[in-house]
Amino acid sequence: MKNFIGQPVDRVDGPAKVRGKACYTADVHPPGLAYGVIVAAAIAKGHVVRLDTVAAEAVPGVISVIHHGNAPQLAYAPMEPRSMVDPKVGEALRIFQDDAVLFSGQPIALAVAEEPEQAAQAAALVRVTYAAEAANSDFARASQTARPPRQSAQPWSRPAELRRGDADAAFAAAPRRVDASYEQPAEFHCAIEPHGTIARWDHDHLTLWDKTQWVDHDRTAIAHVFGIPDDYVRVICPFVGGAFGSALRAWPHVAAAAMASLLVNRPVQLVPTRRQLFSAIGYRPQTVQRLRLGAGEDGRLTAVIHEVVAQTSVYEEYTEASIEPSAMLYAAPTLRADYRLAPMNVNTPCPMRAPGIVTGNLAVELAMDELAETCGLDPLKLRLRNYAESDAQKRLPWSSKSLRQCYAVGAERFGWSQRPATASGRRHGRWLIGYGMASALYPAHRAPASAHAELRADGTVAVTSAAGDMGPGTYTAMTQVAADALALPIAAVHFELGDSLLPSAPAHGGSMTMASVGSAVHAACQELRTKAQELDQRVRLPGDDRLAMQRAYAQLLARHRLDRLTAETEAKPGEEAERYSICAFGAVFAEVRIDPDLAELRVARLLGVYAAGRIINPKTARSQCIGGMVGGLGMALTEQGLWDDRLGRLMNASLADYLMPVNADLQSVEALFVPENDRHLGPLGVKGLAEIAVVGVAPAIVNAIYNATGRRIRSLPVTPDKILGLS
Ligand code: MOS
Repeated sequence: MKNFIGQPVDRVDGPAKVRGKACYTADVHPPGLAYGVIVAAAIAKGHVVRLDTVAAEAVPGVISVIHHGNAPQLAYAPMEPRSMVDPKVGEALRIFQDDAVLFSGQPIALAVAEEPEQAAQAAALVRVTYAAEAANSDFARASQTARPPRQSAQPWSRPAELRRGDADAAFAAAPRRVDASYEQPAEFHCAIEPHGTIARWDHDHLTLWDKTQWVDHDRTAIAHVFGIPDDYVRVICPFVGGAFGSALRAWPHVAAAAMASLLVNRPVQLVPTRRQLFSAIGYRPQTVQRLRLGAGEDGRLTAVIHEVVAQTSVYEEYTEASIEPSAMLYAAPTLRADYRLAPMNVNTPCPMRAPGIVTGNLAVELAMDELAETCGLDPLKLRLRNYAESDAQKRLPWSSKSLRQCYAVGAERFGWSQRPATASGRRHGRWLIGYGMASALYPAHRAPASAHAELRADGTVAVTSAAGDMGPGTYTAMTQVAADALALPIAAVHFELGDSLLPSAPAHGGSMTMASVGSAVHAACQELRTKAQELDQRVRLPGDDRLAMQRAYAQLLARHRLDRLTAETEAKPGEEAERYSICAFGAVFAEVRIDPDLAELRVARLLGVYAAGRIINPKTARSQCIGGMVGGLGMALTEQGLWDDRLGRLMNASLADYLMPVNADLQSVEALFVPENDRHLGPLGVKGLAEIAVVGVAPAIVNAIYNATGRRIRSLPVTPDKILGLS
């Protein structure tokens, strides 16, 4: 019997989604629902002196205008230890608890009304008088006084520096050197589904329908805000329309919705506007990275020096793993990597697909292209010459690493040997043609997860876990795992997720859902099959015929007068992370065409080849990867948050002004997988896929732009003015 694992099974939630039957957060309309609209601060630093709500309250249908002057003081009990998704230093914004303004766009009031339009009108009529102070929303200025993150004893804290050998001495002595700084702007997730919350109190219990990647954390975080037991809060989120890391934390608007519901004694919906979302949730922080590579004449790296400065808010230290790629990607004997923070009057950044890793990888892979030229080597040859056979920083072997195969398959499929040998050396009509490539990696993680499986009288199984599915296909992949473990047809498996009442699951982030929840589903279903077999040893279950198996389960339960048979399992990681360095790897190839007179740029081809452990579903995996690659294209060419330091305000907080790539920006995108089966991270052989797909894409494209034009552009995004050399 063929396994479903490894097959391109159609999305099991696809029909519900295309029929509009999949219920997203803002689709929930409990009886008596009222609507909240945020009033956002118009200054970046200072205080609210006066809030005049007279006109707002006169709008028909308005129920309440909530602000720091009339809001209840909430408990905001500290979460100990802090969750992996919350910054380790600083305090999250406390909604409507005082008059301080820390960034432009900060929610300072909430108008609640019978209808959303009434609430919006009321919010627009709130008159605010501020005492403004000098703010800083200029990254260049903030970077001048950047400082290391403060130390924290909290788990999941990141090292602010990495060292091996004397990198400065090795760099000074190196015959070949690259010393360059790379800038990458703030990038915003801009998921199609806006964030939003519906809050309803039933006496002292709170139900939240909330857009989140982690119902369990959302529950605990909001319970701490209100100082109530965790199990007084239930969070429901069966579908997420894209999140990319933006829905890992419990953002201030979630608490605002819950507070409003408490005050008006009705369910309240709060969906920030698209413009407000740019400051209601986080974003990828702006960075500047100085990268120094020292190498021998043959291109063998002798030194890597990596200095990162990243933006954060004034109230929290958001840090990420940007210095890790320089330590792991290549076999350099010496390394000095330092991470520093530039606090600004902005909302706190947050994880965005491959947080930190995509950033650090960008600098290393751009610098490697420069080193290849300095050494007169093909960029791919340079990478192979510096291939890391083990993790030199952790001093651990890789659990598995098929990056050589990724390079080989990618080079062959892409036609890398046809790369123009000199920059701006090939034309096709008015177009300059360029090829570029980059390596990618993403560390794989696994966390404890639980699943419940229940065989029913008809031989079908219901499997549950408080996991999430922001689009990659959790429903489908878990259904495949359960169907294989129980030898059932896909249609006989019903998988449910996204409710904090279900068995606990980790964050649907960090690419760890498959290894974590998948292992739990696998274990629970295996246990259930064993239990079923143990009911009656004389009956031989026909494990080679799925429909017969379903009938056999039904007959078994009937014979024993059972209406159900259940198993619940917690699956935990072992000590693999102490014995191995576990990463997904990839190689990305890009072809660009540029009209040098008009700076018109087309990405003619984008190819990603990935080694990410076993691929549970090649169809959803490919879809997930090409989506991530388009995200990388946005990073390379179009996306940037622009703050105007005079007002401290994000100038392009809309989908008209914040440019996302569209189909016309890309002609061909393909993702391939090299076979891997890595049992170190769990029985399924997976490493996790999500994050890796965005890594390496931007440097591959920028390196291709160099190959086409001979112009080194070290500041993203590569807009036409930069191609023309105008800025
Ligand atoms: Mo991912 S940035 O952990 O959703």
